[in-house]
Amino acid sequence: MSTMNGTAVLVTGGSRGIGAATAVRLAREGADVAFTYVQDEARAAEVAARIEAVGRKALPLRADAADAGDAAGAVAWAADALGRLDVLVNNAGVGVLGPLESLALADVDRVLAVNVRAVFLASQAAAGRLPDGGRIITIGSCMAQRVPGPGGALYALSKTALIGLTKGLARDLGGRGITANLVHPGPVDTDMNPVGGPHAEGQAALTALDRFGTPDEVAAMVAFLAGPEGRYVTGAEFAVDGGHAA
Ligand SMILES: NC(=O)c1ccc[n+]([C@@H]2O[C@H](COP(=O)([O-])OP(=O)(O)OC[C@H]3O[C@@H](n4cnc5c(N)ncnc54)[C@H](OP(=O)(O)O)[C@@H]3O)[C@@H](O)[C@H]2O)c1
Repeated sequence: MSTMNGTAVLVTGGSRGIGAATAVRLAREGADVAFTYVQDEARAAEVAARIEAVGRKALPLRADAADAGDAAGAVAWAADALGRLDVLVNNAGVGVLGPLESLALADVDRVLAVNVRAVFLASQAAAGRLPDGGRIITIGSCMAQRVPGPGGALYALSKTALIGLTKGLARDLGGRGITANLVHPGPVDTDMNPVGGPHAEGQAALTALDRFGTPDEVAAMVAFLAGPEGRYVTGAEFAVDGGHAA
């Protein structure tokens, strides 16, 4: 079933993890997909090949969300290269966790630049390119809803900021039928948070389902919000967290 035929999408941070799964899923739904990455060119090429294998255009772009120019510029580049832009998925993020006293000013600046400022700038740029009915979907975190232990203050701060941003975008852009929504993953098996990692067992135990999620399970929610059936959903938060917030 192709629900997004003829549409064009930008996914930030699409070379690995949740972003890669989202890029491929939206291609399967019929979208041409531009995506950004910073370091992992080989993995970006693999994702591009998977998108092309389902018959869609793939445009990988090295663009660092920590750089304000790149964050907004990636949107303009994607819209120009694909000829249009219907959906922005703000996925790129960094997780810097640790004892309060260990977090340096540089950590604070980097986490806020990538997880918050870049999302604002990309969404602002997208607002100028999206058609009526366009979509902005941002990947937050279950830690915006519940910080289950020490060490998460900075990361939770950055993800909680996205709640206000999403609600504001919904109000700013609703008149054009453009929706803005926030997806909160729970623990998801990626390079950032591998299922074999040192704190994995504890994280799984915090969920009602007692397991990690998969990137595809998050991508499925993004696909719903990006597709035609999600058109009356805006300003909302969606936990895809196995019951972490329950
Ligand atoms: N995994 C979890 O348990 C979990 C839980 C809640 C929320 N999240 C959120 O989900 C999102 C994706 O996380 P993930 O687990 O899939 O992460 P991941 O496995 O570390 O993958 C991160 C992706 O983002 C790209 N990226 C990193 N920094 C970037 C930057 N400055 N500019 C552009 N791209 C950048 C990476 O590109 P390169 O390959 O080039 O480095 C990679 O494609 C993040 O916003 C994260 O906070 C994850």
